[in-house]
Parts: sequence; structure tokens; C-alpha cells
Amino acid sequence: MADKKAQLVIEGAAPVELPILTGTVGPDVIDVRGLGASGHFTFDPGFMATASCESKITYIDGDKGVLLHRGYPIEQLAEQSDYLETCYLLLNGELPNAEQKAQFVSTVKNHTMVHEQLKSFFNGFRRDAHPMAVMCGVVGALSAFYHDSLDINNPQHREISAVRLVAKMPTLAAMVYKYSMGQPMMYPRNDLSYAENFLHMMFNTPCEIKPISPVLAKAMDRIFILHADHEQNASTSTVRLAGSSGANPFACIAAGIAALWGPAHGGANEAVLTMLDEIGDVSNIDKFIAKAKDKNDPFKLMGFGHRVYKNRDPRATVMKQTCDEVLRELGIKDDPQLELAMRLEEIALTDPYFIERSLYPNVDFYSGIILKAIGIPTSMFTVIFALARTVGWISHWKEMLSGPYKIGRPRQLYTGEPQRDITALKDRK
Ligand code: CMC
Repeated sequence: MADKKAQLVIEGAAPVELPILTGTVGPDVIDVRGLGASGHFTFDPGFMATASCESKITYIDGDKGVLLHRGYPIEQLAEQSDYLETCYLLLNGELPNAEQKAQFVSTVKNHTMVHEQLKSFFNGFRRDAHPMAVMCGVVGALSAFYHDSLDINNPQHREISAVRLVAKMPTLAAMVYKYSMGQPMMYPRNDLSYAENFLHMMFNTPCEIKPISPVLAKAMDRIFILHADHEQNASTSTVRLAGSSGANPFACIAAGIAALWGPAHGGANEAVLTMLDEIGDVSNIDKFIAKAKDKNDPFKLMGFGHRVYKNRDPRATVMKQTCDEVLRELGIKDDPQLELAMRLEEIALTDPYFIERSLYPNVDFYSGIILKAIGIPTSMFTVIFALARTVGWISHWKEMLSGPYKIGRPRQLYTGEPQRDITALKDRK
């Protein structure tokens, strides 16, 4: 892997030779692990130029707008696969054959229920608590229920924890919603598909069981696929970092959920709808575009821009198609908020500020519109992202633990006070 070398010349010191590592595709990386011996560290806040690990799961080419899971383009997975098949792929490295798929689906279905005792956790939260706050709590609490699979050094334990998380996330997400509504929580139904079951637990009640629309179930499944993994983003890196200390998988995923919550990351889907509400009318768009461009204003156009994609977000392209399908199925034509979103997109895509900075609509711009059309409340949007991303998080966690790894422990550039002595309290000014 290390054919080429880089030489770092540090003034007043001997040059340092650093190996250059080559991946299957993508840019080469300079291996700086040996740099510490020279008494220097690298400085890269925000990890703008740092690969934090080696991985075989997901590849992104941000300039070309390419996203591959285990080598397969996201567009093909969205069209020709389903969410549980994509989960199998992320977790195991290959798409399943028919028998492996049937086995995997059946195993996941065996684990959809949560321990009855877990229900009592919900009562500790206010009914108006943000669903992500409840999710951080209840997912972390799973560690207190599944002691039998917490040995992180045992591959079978890691496997069963991964399945438990994928299986139980829809149940927990729907429970969070039902709790906020004051409605009875619905048990999972294992005769339904993963997406149908989620919609069943969200929208049915014990007194009224309505059939689930296949178009909406397909849209939901596609949203899950499009959010399943995305390389070393903030929440995945958080899961890896938490896992590197030996923390149990449920605690690590709870940490991932917390990192996802922020509006710069998974919280953007909720923030898009909040922003559209704030803009209110097409006539106000120019004012908000001007705010987004103003360096002295912290406002950003939510759902636009991406750290890695400097071209179209391939997930956004598929999401836009799904958005059209869902709106057609639901007969939504003249929704003012939708009209506002489409006009905003049009204006932003032709504005030199956005063009120069390659700020395209990202996955969160369209997912919010679809979720809203399906009837999912805005505060649940990021929960759905977390539900779908759990498989990505746990795949990365498993990958890290199955090979040699070290605790993640970055260093810093210290700019505080140098060493000094304490002045007695009476003498301090
Ligand atoms: N609206 C207005 N200006 C923007 C925006 C935006 N949404 N995004 C970036 N910029 C500007 C930014 O001000 C900067 O301008 P300049 O070069 O003049 O200083 C330039 O574009 C580069 O932006 P950056 O903030 O340095 O880029 P970043 O890689 O650090 O941030 C981002 C990426 C996604 C956090 C940011 O684009 C953003 O906050 N977007 C809105 C939130 C959002 O939609 N997030 C969801 C991301 S996709 C889902 C996920 O993966 O979680």
C-alpha cells in the first residue's frame, strides 16, 4: 500500500519521511503516524484534511457526486435493493443471496420488540420533550437490558447487538412518537416489511388498524436506504471514538444520536422545515437569501451545502424523485410550503454566491418535504435519520472492533497560559 513517500522539511530539523498510502479508489493519504517522533503534531480542526481511519464500507467522491456502499452506487441500491438488504450489505460486505436474505430478515424480525420494562423509561420524560432527547435516553438505556450481548471482544455478541439495534430502532422511534401524542404504543408486526411495520407502529392505533400504502412504505424504505451510511461523518466518527474506549454498542449509538441531532448534521431536515415556516412566503425569499450571504449573519440556508459534496448530493437526486412520487400518490399539488421550497431551490441554484461555493441542495432538503407529506411531524425527522443511520454506525463500530484499533485520542495546539504559580487569594486583584 505504501509505494510512494512524502518528505516533510521542518526548519532546523532533519527531514521526516512519511509513507503515502493508497486506497482502492480516491486520493492517496500521507501517513503521519511517525511524525510524533519529530516532536510535532498535525493541526487540522474540523478534520478538513484528515482521514481518521481505514474503512471498506462506504466511498464518497464529493467532486463527482458519487456515493458507493461496499462498491455499489447508492442510485442502484435505492432502485434495486431494499433497506434490510442494504443493512446486510453494510454489515457483512456483500449483498445476500435469497437464502441469506430470508434468514437475515427473519433474525431482525425476531428482535423487533423491546423489553416491557423499557416502556417505563418514557414516563420520566415530559410529553413535549424533543423526540431526539428521548431517543438519546432510551437507546442508551438498552445497555441496561441486554447484558447478554455486551462483550465487545466477542464477535457473536457484536453481531447480536447489531441486529438488536437495527430491529429495535423503529420500535423505539414509534414509541417516542406515540408517547408525545399520548397514544398507546403499538407492538411491532412481524408479518409486515421493515418500512410498513414502522408506519404501522407510527400511525395505527389499537382501535383502528389501517392498511399501509405501498407507495408510502416504498418511499419510507428509500429514505432509510438513502440515510443508511455516509462514511466518516460527525456522528459516525463519534460512534467510532466512543467505541474506541471500549464502551458498549448501545452507549456508542446513543452518542451517535446526540452528534446527529445538531442542525449542521442530521438536525438539518427539521431545520429546513422550520426555515420554510420562517420564510413564510415566496415574496420573502430574497430577504433570506441576502441573510444567508451576509457574513455578519449566522443564518445559513438549511438543506444546502455539504462538507464533502462539492457537486450534487447523489442522495438528493434520488430523494427528489421519491418526493415527486409521494406527492403524486398523495395528490399534493398546491402546497404553499412545497412551492416555497421549489422556488428557493431554483433561486439558490442560479445565485452566483451558491454556485461559486458549490452549495447544492443536500439530502435533507427533500427528505423533510417527503416526511411532512407522509404525515410525520417535523420534530420526528431527525429520529428517522437516526433510525436509518444506526446500521451505518454499527457497521463502522463492528469494522473497527474486528481489527487492530487504538483509543481515539487527538492532541491539540495549546494557546493558553504557560505554567505559572498560584497567588494567594488575599493578594489577587
Ligand atoms: N447557506 C449559506 N452559506 C453557506 C451554506 C449555507 N447552507 N453552507 C456553506 N455556506 C458558505 C459558508 O459561509 C462558506 O462561505 P465563505 O467561503 O464565504 O466563508 C462556504 O459556503 C463554505 O462553507 P463551510 O461552512 O466552510 O463548509 P463546511 O464544510 O464547514 O460546512 C455544512 C458544511 C453542511 C455544515 C454547511 O454547508 C451547512 O451548515 N449547511 C446547512 C446545514 C445542512 O443542510 N446540513 C446537512 C448536511 S447533509 C446531511 C448530513 O450529512 O448530515
